[in-house]
Parts: sequence; C-alpha cells; structure tokens
Amino acid sequence: MTGAMPAFDSACPSRFSPELPTTAADGPPPTRWTDPRTAAAYALRDSAFDREVAWPALAAAVRPPEPRRAPGRPDGEVLDLGCGLGGLSHHLASEHWLRVHAVDVSPAMHRLGAQLYRDAWLVRSLPDSRGRLHLRRGQCTGAVVQLMLVHLPHARHLVAALGGARLVLRPGAPLVAVEPGPGTYGGLAGAVQWGEPREAGRSAPEDGMPYVARYRLTDGTTLRTAAWHHTPDSIAECLWRADFRLDEMRPLAEPLAGENACLWLYRATAV
Ligand SMILES: C[S@@+](CC[C@H](N)C(=O)[O-])C[C@H]1O[C@@H](n2cnc3c(N)ncnc32)[C@H](O)[C@@H]1O
Repeated sequence: MTGAMPAFDSACPSRFSPELPTTAADGPPPTRWTDPRTAAAYALRDSAFDREVAWPALAAAVRPPEPRRAPGRPDGEVLDLGCGLGGLSHHLASEHWLRVHAVDVSPAMHRLGAQLYRDAWLVRSLPDSRGRLHLRRGQCTGAVVQLMLVHLPHARHLVAALGGARLVLRPGAPLVAVEPGPGTYGGLAGAVQWGEPREAGRSAPEDGMPYVARYRLTDGTTLRTAAWHHTPDSIAECLWRADFRLDEMRPLAEPLAGENACLWLYRATAV
C-alpha cells in the first residue's frame, strides 16, 4: 500500500462520528498510563522488534541525509510524541546526533524512563493542561510517534495530538509513525497481540471500535491495554485535518520466526 494515498478536500464532511467513543460494554477498561504499575510493567516489554526494525525505520525518516555531527551541535530537533520511557528518544539522541523532545502525558513513564535512559540531548516534558507542547512554533525538524495513536479512543484525539505536533514542526518536516495497519488486528506484531488471535472468518473490528492489545513482557506475563481500531483511511484523514500530507504507508517486516502480522510505517509531511 505504497501507491495512491487517500485524497480529502475541505468540501467533504468528516466521516468521523461526533460522538465520543465507544467503550463497548465488553470492551477493555481504559489504560491508566499514568499509573506507576503500568509504567513498571511497560518497562519489561520485549523490545527486540523496536531495536531491530522500528527504531531504524523511524530514525531513517527524521535524520538529515548528510549528518554534520559538529561537536555540541545536534543535527536536528525531533519530537517524540507519546515517548513512553524514552527508549526511542535515547536511540535518536545517542546514535543519530539529534536533540529529542520526549513528550508524554504520563509522569510515571517519565520518572521511570529517566532512570533507564539519560542523555543531555534527551529533553523530557509533559503537555500542559490543555494538551499544548512546551515547544516553539516550527522548532522541530521532524517528529516520531510509536504505538500512541492506537491507544487514543477517538479520531478527534488523534487530530488534537497530531495538530499539536504540526504546530512545533517547520513546513516540509517529516512526521513518521509506527502503528497497527491492515492485517495487524488478530495477529502478533512487535511482541504485541493485537486483539483476539485470528480465527477463520474473523475480521477486524469496525473503524473506531475498542479492543485489547496485549504487550508481551520479558517475565512471561502480558500487559493488557485498551486499543482502538483506526483504519488507514481514518489515520490519513486525521493527518490531513492536522495539516499533514500522508506520503507513504508500508508494512515493517518482522525478522522473528512465527510472527504472523506486521506493524506499519506511516510517513507524512507537514504542509
Ligand atoms: C504504548 S505506549 C508507547 C510508548 C513509546 N512510544 C514506545 O513505543 O515504547 C503509549 C504512550 O503514549 C502516551 N500517551 C497517550 N496519550 C498521549 C497524548 N495525548 N500525548 C502524549 N502521550 C500520550 C502514554 O502515556 C504512553 O506512554
């Protein structure tokens, strides 16, 4: 699915329901990412896929084609939106000479992450009470998002989060995300079981519907989280509403035997 991207125009009404989401009676309880127990469990996440596949692909999209690597001067300023513990932020700072603004709504994630990942160019912050980022307009040369959009319950939350990122990006800057996509639901991808294991005839839930994503942890247990099914069309429309152009979406190959689904890379440009 790297060909024609969905096109939108302002004359078209949004497909999104104005209703607030859908936590179906049998749906998962919302995940409290601010709970220290959630952060502690998340720290045990199996990160092989991140390190081997997702982080290199995300880094390739936001690092400059010709790095300068001048002493004391980062090669760019990247926003890591929904950074969690900040492993990706640390990778971008330490391996790619980038100053990284690691933003997350969870102080617990930041606290624990600060013990695990430290770098002078890794700058952590919370959004303010209205969701605004503590960054200047056009300050960032790129933005990365990994496994955050899938945990937002409604398209309007995606538009708000992406719109916040757009404000701090300069025009033409890339925003790149790793998220579930076609075929991810029902499978194991990136050490996460997305929804119920696939059964014959079972299709993905409808756009906007909740399900459970189970993160595999290195102690053999799983972290149950609330996820929402956002179709590629829905993500493309959210990007467009937030003033991005979706340039590409492609599956990220799993190197591990036995994996049966994949995560997707969405690459967009700030317009
Ligand atoms: C599944 S974790 C992903 C963390 C990290 N990106 C990674 O790949 O390991 C989702 C993260 O998104 C954060 N989050 C959820 N909604 C957010 C929002 N509106 N703005 C910033 N962070 C958010 C949560 O606190 C949580 O740390």
